Amino acid sequence: MQKQVNRRALLQGMVGGAVALALAPNVLAAYGPPPGIISLRYNENPYGPSAKAIQAASQALRKGAYYADPVQSGLFGAITAKYQLSLDNLTLSSGSNEALHAAMVAYSKKGKVVTPGLTYSDHVSYSKRMGVEFIEVPLKEDMSIDLEGMAAAVDASVSLVYVCNPNNPTGMTLDGDTLRDFCRTVSKKAMVLVDEAYNELVDEPEYTSMVDLVREGENVLVMRTFSKIFGMAGLRVGYGMGHPDIARQVTDNLMAWPNSVGLAAATASYVDDDFIQYSRDKVIKGRAMVNETFRKNGIEPLPSQTNFVYADIGRNATVFQKQMAERNIQIRGAFESYENYSRVSMGRIEELEVFDKVFTEVYNA
Ligand SMILES: Cc1ncc(COP(=O)(O)O)c(C=O)c1O
Repeated sequence: MQKQVNRRALLQGMVGGAVALALAPNVLAAYGPPPGIISLRYNENPYGPSAKAIQAASQALRKGAYYADPVQSGLFGAITAKYQLSLDNLTLSSGSNEALHAAMVAYSKKGKVVTPGLTYSDHVSYSKRMGVEFIEVPLKEDMSIDLEGMAAAVDASVSLVYVCNPNNPTGMTLDGDTLRDFCRTVSKKAMVLVDEAYNELVDEPEYTSMVDLVREGENVLVMRTFSKIFGMAGLRVGYGMGHPDIARQVTDNLMAWPNSVGLAAATASYVDDDFIQYSRDKVIKGRAMVNETFRKNGIEPLPSQTNFVYADIGRNATVFQKQMAERNIQIRGAFESYENYSRVSMGRIEELEVFDKVFTEVYNA
């Protein structure tokens, strides 16, 4: 799902930003939301990076003269140990977006890409601009991904199927067994890419990762990111786990490797179980608070398992977004044809307390 101020626009502003940075008295002021603004729009996690990640990143910065090496860093070793995979199952990129897009470019040489009609789409829009052809299968009535419809769309002209679980922007999960059956069947005809960016934030027992299919050698790629539970969106690290053929094809189509600072931070965070638990607890508490804000205003949000909540607010979401922005709270506005749906990302607990108050006032004004 594209950001309201999309990443391209942010990048286009970089030249001016560089000048501003040179003049900035305090480097920290150049990153994150400006003082007084509560940013609940990009699905970031303000509880990261962890203290250990910051320490490791500062050390790595001293070796910034050299290209990063994921094997030397220990990150690949930690991932392969956790999931009983081999090094050749892995691909690592500058944010998972880069690998998602690289997969689409690699596989689109052989055919079309099938996606849900409403899903995370930064890499989809970029790939469309690169000429990749898509088949978009509408969501079901209850806003869940239509796996049957997607399976039916896979014919000989299709080479890749993208499933986001939990999905963005709905936040909803697919049942693990159902998705596993889908992957086993569909992957005989096309590679299935399962984007598990929010995997660590799910607390629903029916959800399971598809990484076991990678171990079994199926035609499946599982993508993960350090931007969500690890709170490292600005440090740009993502990784994919897939059959060695898939991992190699993705790697061959990457240009943006992770930087050494991000890699060091990722390596330290990945094994920091205390931080992972802390971050997860905060996000899940925040999720309950945002759900409660919606509900007390008579709105039933979709059942989110992520660090954002999506809800039909019964009025134009972009107009409402502007009203909230006037009160210094940034949320998402309308996306595609879902004009009345608002998406609110988790902030710090104290920011969500302010959100609750302001939302209720603005909504009932
Ligand atoms: C489902 C999903 N996948 C991938 C990404 C990209 O994350 P990153 O490129 O920061 O790893 C996002 C970001 O919001 C997302 O929601």
